[in-house]
Amino acid sequence: MSELPAFRWSAVLLILLGLVTLQSGTHAASFPATRGRGGAVAAGERAATEAGLEILQAGGNAVDAAVATALALAVVQPDAGNLGGGGFAVVKVGKELASLDFRETAPTAARRDMYLDSDGRPDDAASREGPLAAGVPGTPTGLYVLHQRFGSIPWREVVDPARRLADDGFVVSRRLQLSVADSRKRLERYPETAAVWLPGGEPPQAGSRMRLPALAATLESYAEHGPTALTTGAAAEAIERVSRKYGGILRASDITDYRPVWRQPLTFEAFGWRFASMDLPASGGIIVAQALALLESLDWKAHPRFGAARAHLLAEVLRRSFADRYLLGDPTTTLADSKTLLDPDWLASRRSTIRDQRATPSADVARSPQPTLQESSDTTHLSVADAYGNVVALTTTLNDAYGCGLLVPELGFLLNNQMDDFATAPGHPNMYGLVQGEANAVGPGKRMLSSMAPILGLRGSASVVLGARGGGRIPTAVLQVLLNLLVDDDGLQTAIDRPRLHHQWLPDRLRAEADALSPETRKKLEAWGHQIEVWDRTAMVHAVRRLHDGQYEAAADPRGPGVAGVVDPLP
Ligand code: DON
Repeated sequence: MSELPAFRWSAVLLILLGLVTLQSGTHAASFPATRGRGGAVAAGERAATEAGLEILQAGGNAVDAAVATALALAVVQPDAGNLGGGGFAVVKVGKELASLDFRETAPTAARRDMYLDSDGRPDDAASREGPLAAGVPGTPTGLYVLHQRFGSIPWREVVDPARRLADDGFVVSRRLQLSVADSRKRLERYPETAAVWLPGGEPPQAGSRMRLPALAATLESYAEHGPTALTTGAAAEAIERVSRKYGGILRASDITDYRPVWRQPLTFEAFGWRFASMDLPASGGIIVAQALALLESLDWKAHPRFGAARAHLLAEVLRRSFADRYLLGDPTTTLADSKTLLDPDWLASRRSTIRDQRATPSADVARSPQPTLQESSDTTHLSVADAYGNVVALTTTLNDAYGCGLLVPELGFLLNNQMDDFATAPGHPNMYGLVQGEANAVGPGKRMLSSMAPILGLRGSASVVLGARGGGRIPTAVLQVLLNLLVDDDGLQTAIDRPRLHHQWLPDRLRAEADALSPETRKKLEAWGHQIEVWDRTAMVHAVRRLHDGQYEAAADPRGPGVAGVVDPLP
């Protein structure tokens, strides 16, 4: 047994001891929800969930486990997990609530017209492909400061599961093989990337063992020296070198100067629960907060479940929340904020325009009065709870799958293409079709507006922890899972499994997963003026919760390869 790689050895041990159960999202619907007594992890890949559970098992708290899970995702889920991207975390440790913004920033040399061609038209390729699309990574410093403030076991131990995965190798899943094949064009453009992710010119084969020596060395020095190993000296110069080689503007000083920001969590109440989410530059929490407030006041509970009236209200509310999103951007340039958009008068004025049985055209919503400021495709979400009641919701991303496609050869990780989350030209849709405004124009050092929505729901000793990937569909997925759980009392897995609807103001369409609307409901909604489109199932929610009796539940989204597990399972 001693020749078993360490990560497999620990997983085998845990299973032998009967202390951990894992449940694959792909098959989740056919199993009862995973329940236990000692904490829970839900994340986008099996090895990452295992890393989190291993840390909980070793006595780490929820923050230790969340950081270990995020780092493991940076190895085994290269399309979204990252060191070259950024994200947000909302945590409750003891009685303290905190939220960390480790979103990427625009490089110092960024300019508002940098993605316009010579005729002034937006050039989408420039904000999506190659290093010109990359923001300054926030993950290396972000995960470290999160651990510094709230972690309980040594940093090295938290990095170790990821380092072992990169060093010893991990078994390539069918999903990873297909995902690399899907992004082949993006990855083969750069020899630095192809050398790692298209070995011999082909995607890694499912079932083969993938070793990532450069990334393992990066993780080793990260474990030893902390983030400066990735953000100063030779490492920062390596990022500048490869960026310059392909026309990027990232400079070593941008990398070194990056700082994550602790922000006041966005807190609000709805349906008898208290919530904490991420405020700007994330818009997801604001959208969820607005939508919950409006739906509660529109008597959502009283309308029959799965009926046309609820679908109509959901569409009308989201149409208005996403219209308000147009005003949002980096906290320094935003034209509205959570205070103005959650102001009771503003919510009342939005509510007063919602009509029964009649869709409001999105164009009319855009012309609604706008509040003024009073003063002053790849992402991955993980949820963790520990036995002490601490909880972490963390969403991290490279933006699109494999980010901008360019890998830093000396460091072994990919750079993001988060710059496309800016309004490259105000009014021009980004890759998720989100139409954004002046407030989110490109500017040096600015953070691009995000739809991410890591969120904690709290009531007495109970908590629910969730978030999602899926671009603009992140807040709408999170919202519907919350409604399923807190209004309709679904089990955690059922709440996630149920088909979802989506509306984002523009385009003026109600998007529905294939089985979300019955033919009769669809007919009614169309008669009320909704344009309905059947849409794919790509938003993925991973959640855990702690029930009043101290038991834990974990669930991964069956729409993807996520895996949920608990420590000390109940029979
Ligand atoms: O921050 C955002 O809103 C986007 N960059 C998230 C991207 C995403 O969820 C991609 N996954 N499908």
